[in-house]
Formats: sequence, structure tokens, C-alpha cells
Amino acid sequence: MKVFVNKRIPETGMEAGLEVFIPDHDNLSHEEWLIYCQNTDAILSIGNEFWYDKDFFDQCPDIKAVALYSVGFDHVDIKEANRRGIPIGNTPDVLSKATSDVAFLLMQSVARRASYNFQKVKDGNWGHFDPLHALGQELYGKTLGILGLGRIGFEMAKKSRKAFDMNIIYHNRHRNEEAEKELNAAYVSFEELIAQSDVLSIHANFTPQQKELFNGPVFEKMKDNAIFINTARGGFQNEKDLYEALVSKQIWGAGLDVTNPEPMSRESSLLGLSNACVLPHIGSATIEARTGMAKMAAENIIAFSRGEKMPYCANP
Ligand code: DGY
Repeated sequence: MKVFVNKRIPETGMEAGLEVFIPDHDNLSHEEWLIYCQNTDAILSIGNEFWYDKDFFDQCPDIKAVALYSVGFDHVDIKEANRRGIPIGNTPDVLSKATSDVAFLLMQSVARRASYNFQKVKDGNWGHFDPLHALGQELYGKTLGILGLGRIGFEMAKKSRKAFDMNIIYHNRHRNEEAEKELNAAYVSFEELIAQSDVLSIHANFTPQQKELFNGPVFEKMKDNAIFINTARGGFQNEKDLYEALVSKQIWGAGLDVTNPEPMSRESSLLGLSNACVLPHIGSATIEARTGMAKMAAENIIAFSRGEKMPYCANP
């Protein structure tokens, strides 16, 4: 079986006798990508810049399986894959701690104005002790609203509760009663979530119906001390509206590990704001998570090559 792996990944169990192709450079054009995909049986797919949709599968009719090197699969038309009987592997769980660590990091960075203060140091503007300057806000006892209380949202809520005794509210498509008990969390409507959260952190799977769910009217309903955190997908936010909300101090600040689009342009007005902290989608970027993801993706490919069901599969 021929497997196309579009970027190098941590050493894994790829020695199962599979014929593996890894291109000699990272930034494949769409055309190059298609050529590789047209000459393979399966893909171990890193990154989400290329889409797996009807057009793609029509152009690459020999593809029989895709093992994503990610938990998210919003770049895959799952219905189309199902229709064609193509399994889509993913890597759940193994990156939940790492990704929620980044949400936690952003929450604290924004609350304590880390970007602003770091910039001052870089500008040679350390300043003197000033009782009224550069004041952040404390998170103790505040309300953390989680949109999407799944594995990553749970980890974020757990550490926020432990570290800052935060009160947890959440909104999901379905209630997560087990997590509610463990976190003493309250299920609320979306409207209540945005109105009551001091910190609102997104951990939901992204679907086209949620495109720019966080826009002007939603930011308007948030508290003026609210911190908006997104480590899920940038498509959740309208960045022009977010900019307006931050400049007009409708909300306190924003911490983003994902942007809309990615990569964020250097010209983005958000980068000029002292109350925004932006990271380049590094949620799962730890040695532990990336190694675990490599192992899971490889296990998916190997299982498929043996005619077995992928152990970690995004489609039934
Ligand atoms: C994931 O696993 O979905 C991360 O966001 C990396 O794309």
C-alpha cells in the first residue's frame, strides 16, 4: 500500500512495510499536493490548508483512507467521505492537555496584560513602579464560560477551577452531565454564556453553521471585563468586529491561538493592540502531544493497511 505523508512527523511506527512518500519540501502548492494524492492509496495528512471534499475525492479517485494528524476535521466533508466509504482517522485526546494549556496561558496573559508589558520591555520602556499603571485583573472566583465542554474544554475548566477556583458555566449542543458533576459546572444557553462569562473560551468543533458566531452583536452582549479566548478554530470569530470590540473596550481583551484566516496577515489590525495576544496555532505543539499524534495517525494507517478498522476514526 502506498502512503503519502505530506510533512515529516516525529519518528513513529511507520516501519510496518508500507511504501511511504514524503516530499522534500514543506510548502506544497495545491497542484503538487494533488499530484501526490493522485498517486497514493492513503494519506497521513498534516495541516488543514487543503480540503477533503467532493472535488478532491473526484480528482483523486484512488484514495482509500485519510489519517489526519489532528483532532479537528473541519476541513473534511465527512458526509462525502462516508458516501465513498473512506475512513477519516483523527487524533483525539492526546492533545487535550497541551491545547487547554495554551488556552490557560492566553487567559492569564490577557488578564495580566503580558503582550503590553512585554512590548514595553522590548521598547526599552521598563518604567518605574506605578500604583496605577499596567494593572491587570485577577481571575480568582471569576466565571469561566466554555463553549464546547468536550475533552479540551474539560481540561481547561479543570485547571481553571483548581488554579483560580473559577465558577464554570458551559454551552454545548448536548449536556455533558458527567463533566457537570466533576466540575460543578452549570449548563447555560448561548445567550447566558456570553452575558455571564468573565472569560469565554471556545473549545467546540467548528462547523460552517458557526462561521463568525462571535461578531459585533455578540461582543456587545459580553461584559466589559470579559476575556475572549479561542484555541479551537479561527472561523468562529469575525476579526474586524473583534478589533472594534477591543478598541472600544467593549471587552477587556482577547487571546487567540487560531485566526481567521490562517496564517494571520502581518497587517492585521489586531496585532497593533495591547489587549490582544496572538499565537500561531501552537495548541498541540509539545513533544508529548505531537509524538502521541504521530503514533495514533500511524496506527490508523497501519490498521487500514491490514484491512482493519482505524482505531481512532472521525467517521463511523
Ligand atoms: C488539531 O488537532 O485539530 C489542531 O488544531 C491542529 O490542527
